[in-house]
Amino acid sequence: MRLIFLGPPGAGKGTVAHHVTQKTGVVQISTGDLLREAVKNGTELGKKAKSYMDAGELVPDALVIGLLKDRIARSDCARGFILDGFPRTIPQAEALEAAGVQIDKVINFRIKDEVVIRRLSGRRIHKKTGRIYNVNPGGYPAPTSDMKPEDLLQRDDDKPEAIANRLEVYRRQTEPLISFYASRKLLADIDAAKDMAEIAVELDPILGI
Ligand code: AP5
Repeated sequence: MRLIFLGPPGAGKGTVAHHVTQKTGVVQISTGDLLREAVKNGTELGKKAKSYMDAGELVPDALVIGLLKDRIARSDCARGFILDGFPRTIPQAEALEAAGVQIDKVINFRIKDEVVIRRLSGRRIHKKTGRIYNVNPGGYPAPTSDMKPEDLLQRDDDKPEAIANRLEVYRRQTEPLISFYASRKLLADIDAAKDMAEIAVELDPILGI
């Protein structure tokens, strides 16, 4: 199973990827997570990527394409993978094709801006496990009672100015991929504003899981 999850920031790509990996054992590859790791470790790539990420801009194609190619060459990808947040530009999609990577399905997360803005403002990352939670009232998944506020981290790019720019960047640079993959008959839409249980009912039959 080789999947691409395509959608605006905060659409729930990481959350749904967690559901699919739990059910199938395929690997989730988030270029955002790989880049944040590079920033944390102070690598050359991380130093180059940081200012773009903080501003909500895309990291230059050449840097991300190299990163992704190295990651999918690793042995844990042999049974399949979910690309979460890659490709994000037409040149990235073309680079994937040029590398001979066959994709089975592209899942397009359809969701309105107002829903993603609400979700992103409440998103927190659990420092120890890296799992995603939401601290909004009724947010999904809610942090568990043993988690203290200091155990949860807010991403720098989840601040309001960066969120607005990320949505704008998505429209300009990533949305054209919807027709790119539709023309290759790989696209399947899901209604990403639903709750996770309802999304699973819609998505699992598309993936045959
Ligand atoms: P990245 O980390 O990929 O961020 P993103 O695409 O903007 O997406 P997010 O991770 O913010 O959201 P998500 O859709 O995974 O939603 P989540 O599941 O967390 O990229 C960050 C940056 O890295 C980019 O801005 C760019 O600079 C750089 N970058 C990365 N890839 C790149 C590339 N290919 N090229 C160039 N640059 C690149 O959910 C959001 C919140 O909603 C959570 O709190 C969650 O708990 C909640 N939630 C999720 N699903 C539901 C639901 N069904 N119901 C209720 N709440 C939900």
